[in-house]
This record gives sequence, structure tokens and C-alpha cells, in this order.
Amino acid sequence: MTRPLELADPTLLHQAALIDGEWLKPGNDAIAVTDPATGETLGHVPACGKAETEAAIASAKAAWPAWRAMTAGERCALVERWHALVMDNLDDLARIMTAEQGKPLAEAMGEMRYAASFIKWFAEEGRRVGGKNVASPERDRRIIVMVEPVGISAAITPWNFPAAMITRKCAPALAAGCPVIVKPSELTPFSALALGELALRAGIPAGVFHILTGLPNDIGAAITASPDVRKLSFTGSTRVGALLMRQSADTIKRLSLELGGNAPLIVFDDADIPTAVKAAMASKFRNAGQTCVCANRILVQSGIHDAFVEALGAEVGKLHAAPGMESGSTIGPLINAAAVDKVSAHIADALDNGGRIVASGSGRDDGPFVRPVLITGATPDMKLASEETFGPLAPVFRFGSEDEGIELANDTPYGLASYFYTQDVARAFRVAERLEAGMVALNTGSIAMEMAPFGGVKQSGLGREGGIWGIEEYLETKAFHIGALGF
Ligand code: SIN
Repeated sequence: MTRPLELADPTLLHQAALIDGEWLKPGNDAIAVTDPATGETLGHVPACGKAETEAAIASAKAAWPAWRAMTAGERCALVERWHALVMDNLDDLARIMTAEQGKPLAEAMGEMRYAASFIKWFAEEGRRVGGKNVASPERDRRIIVMVEPVGISAAITPWNFPAAMITRKCAPALAAGCPVIVKPSELTPFSALALGELALRAGIPAGVFHILTGLPNDIGAAITASPDVRKLSFTGSTRVGALLMRQSADTIKRLSLELGGNAPLIVFDDADIPTAVKAAMASKFRNAGQTCVCANRILVQSGIHDAFVEALGAEVGKLHAAPGMESGSTIGPLINAAAVDKVSAHIADALDNGGRIVASGSGRDDGPFVRPVLITGATPDMKLASEETFGPLAPVFRFGSEDEGIELANDTPYGLASYFYTQDVARAFRVAERLEAGMVALNTGSIAMEMAPFGGVKQSGLGREGGIWGIEEYLETKAFHIGALGF
């Protein structure tokens, strides 16, 4: 460790992978983990590969029979204890997250609470899992539909939400009776490892929860090739999701894929401007814009365009780019140089093609920091219209009729989130039903919460996380026919 993180409990910070309940230290091929705000090395983790992945799978295979044989109540009590330990350690967990991911400390704390909410939700939901008794076609036959854990599950998770994307997958898997193998992003493994430490302290058995640190290719290939891994849940890009889907074909795995987005945020003429501005700020600038459900395109109807832009510009002007540990930071560093290059390219392309910066935030504008900007005059042929910017750039497009707004919104191969603002109830239903997205938000900018289904349509993915739907992804349905009952 080259920089102390001033944790109340330094034992939460592991420079290791977690396999079969043992902490595996890095060897010569250790991977450095850096603070994106400063470039400083925070520590190292092992570069796990095929051998470590196979060891984790073998351990999970050995642990599964006992884990699935426990009652739902016994398993969920352990998951509930995990939740309590996460809540007891929120400050440290948030500090670890800000150090490795960059987001402002207050946002990291928010993510930790969000992450914990999934553990709590599924500790409760796991107790309610059940099947059905189906009407029989014969007097002396009974048909019982049972649900069972799908089996060893793998979770491949991204750097933008280093804790919540893990708990949203692992808590339902564990509650359903599945062992899980997590492969966190190599950029943000320490949050995952701290969650692993707390899972062990909660009493979740050694073979049931593994964390493989390292680069994705070898681990992903070993996970997808294994017939013992029955389920893979991935959050990340559409390109990698498609690759994992192809790799999983030979072993016919169950898949949940939460992939890229290009969320439209539509402001109709009859919108309440303060509501729409508040929601646009929340949706666009969360995590410095590095969120799959961030508003990528702000579509504003002509009649309200100028008033909305003025009000939004005033709020953008209040944002401040600074290291996440500094008080007053509302926009942290972007994750790496490639992320900065992409946002800069989108801004340059927009300006070259007639866009205009009408407001910007304050603070750092060097290295990994990008000052937030509001650009008007955005058009569908700009890069920012077809690619996910994943940064603090808010582009405003102007449109005329309701039909035109909806067509622009749907003009993308993605369909994760869509937001719109209107006070007209009939329009609310008309638009909600025509938007091609797994999640539609009216007059709010938030859609991510433990009780609601999260997921996309089109090239944004398969399956749903959260709510009563999230645990179904880890359950198989078995029909049990009982014949010749003799009555
Ligand atoms: C994501 O960006 O991948 C997830 C965002 C969320 O859970 O809100």
C-alpha cells in the first residue's frame, strides 16, 4: 500500500483475491490499483487467470449442496447479517470507493447505502420464494411446480458502481441458494474485496462467495467455458455483453446482461421547468455522467427550449469538478484518460458541427477532470447522439411535435432508460407506451432503487435486476408430476 486511506478498520482493505475463504496475495504479475484523481498507486491485487477461476469454481461446486440444503430462513439470516455489517462500515466503504473510483465522498456514501439496500431487500425476498400447485388433468395426478437455485453463478461487474452492481447480483444469488463468483473491474477491486471480507465475517461459508481479481479475458473465458457455472450476470458494454453471450453459447448458460444505454430525456412544452431541471441534473451528472442510465440526449420542445436551457444552465454553473475527497466536489475525476478523450472528442465534434457551449461548471479542467458543460444546438449526426458520452456533457436537441420527440428518443439501438417531463396525463400514457426502454421515468430523474426492476430492451440487454424479478434470475422452475395416486 503506498497511500494510507485513514480507515477506522484497515482490515477491510485487502490486496488479495478471495478464493475458498482464503486471501490469495499478488505475485509478480500483480495489478496496480490507482486513485483516478491523483494517479497514485493505492495497492495491488493478483492477476487471477484460468487456474484461479477453476479453483473458485471447484470450491463453489463443493460448497453448493450444503448451501442449497439450508432453509431459506437460515441463508437469509446470514445475508441479513452481511447487510448489518455493511451498514456498520459505511464510512470506510465509502472512503475505499472514492479512493479507487473517484466519485465524491457523499456520492460514494450514497452508493454504499444503495448497495446495502439490495442486500436487505433480497435477504427478505429470499424468504418469500415459492412455487405453485397446478390444476391436474387427472384425478389421481398432482403437479407441483417447484423452484430451485440455478446453481453456481458468476457476476462480472463494472467500475462505475463498484459496490452496488455486486450486491444487486450477489444478494439475490446467495438468498436463492447459489454460490457466487465475482469478477470486479480491475480498476475498482478494493470495494468488492471489502464486501467479501464482510460477507465472511457475516458467516457466509468460504466456498459460497469468491472474488477473482485481475484482467477480464482469461477469467471471463474460464467462467463461460465451465459447464459447472450455470448462470452469468454481467453489467458493462454491449460489445462485451455480446462477446460473453457468444462465449456462453456452448454451455447454454442462463444470462442476465445489463448493457449500454443512450438515454433520452424529453422535456415537453407543458413541463414544469423546476421539476425537469432538477431531474435532468440528477440523471445527467450522477457519477460525473459515468452511468448507463445517465441522460445522454436532452430533447427539448421548441416552446420551452430557451427557458429550460436558461434554468438548466444556472444549475450546471453550480457544479464543481474536484477530487472526490475534497469538500465541495460534485464532479469527481473521470476514470481514466480514455474516458477524458471520449468526452473531449464529443465536445469538439459538437462545436465543429454548430453546437454552442452555453454554461459550464467550475473547478479543475486538467488531467482526469472535465468541467461539466451544457451544449445547445445538438443534432442527430453528432457523435454525442449515437455514442454514450459517459461524462459530464449535457447536449440539448430542439424538436417540434410530440411525434418528432418520440422518434428522436427511439432513434438508437439501445433501450435502457428514458425520461420525460409533462403535466398532461394523456400525453404521459401516450409517450410512456411508445418509448422503447426497459425503464421509463415521468417527472423524475431517478429510476434505480431496490424494489423496482432494472434492465433494458433492444441492445441494452436481457433480464431484470432488483425487485421481485431480481431473484427469479437465480431460480430454475421444476415441474414435479405425481401420478397413480390411487384415488
Ligand atoms: C449502471 O450505470 O450500470 C447502473 C446504474 C444504476 O444502478 O443506477
